[in-house]
Order: sequence, then C-alpha cells, then structure tokens
Amino acid sequence: MIICICANVSDRTISEAVRTGCASVEDITMKTGACSGCGQCRMHCQSEIEAHNTLLQVSEMSQQTA
Ligand code: FES
Repeated sequence: MIICICANVSDRTISEAVRTGCASVEDITMKTGACSGCGQCRMHCQSEIEAHNTLLQVSEMSQQTA
C-alpha cells in the first residue's frame, strides 16, 4: 500500500528502511524519499520507528531474562 503519495513510497519500503537502520524520519526521507513533500506520511514513518524500537527493547528484555 502506498503511504507517501508525494513520493510514491509503500509501507513495505518504509518498513524495510527502518529494519535496515533508518532511525529517524529524516533517515527514511534520505533513503526512500518518503516525507519529502506535504508531510502527511510523517506520522506513519514515526510510528514505524517507534514500533521497531519497541520490538528491539522487548527482544533485549527477553534475552536478559533467558
Ligand atoms: S504523503 Fe508523504 S510527503 Fe506527502
């Protein structure tokens, strides 16, 4: 599904950018072009980063308790 209409960037592309190291909306913009126009996709990009960071924290916590 296209998330960024301005730059024609899909949710998959944004997710992949976050998984491969983009840690800020600006990083995502540099890598994919998303959020380089009107900014309406900014919340989605931010949410992807936060979800990724939460998963990392849960993973680290589960490794510490194992
Ligand atoms: S929808 Fe992404 S910048 Fe406009």
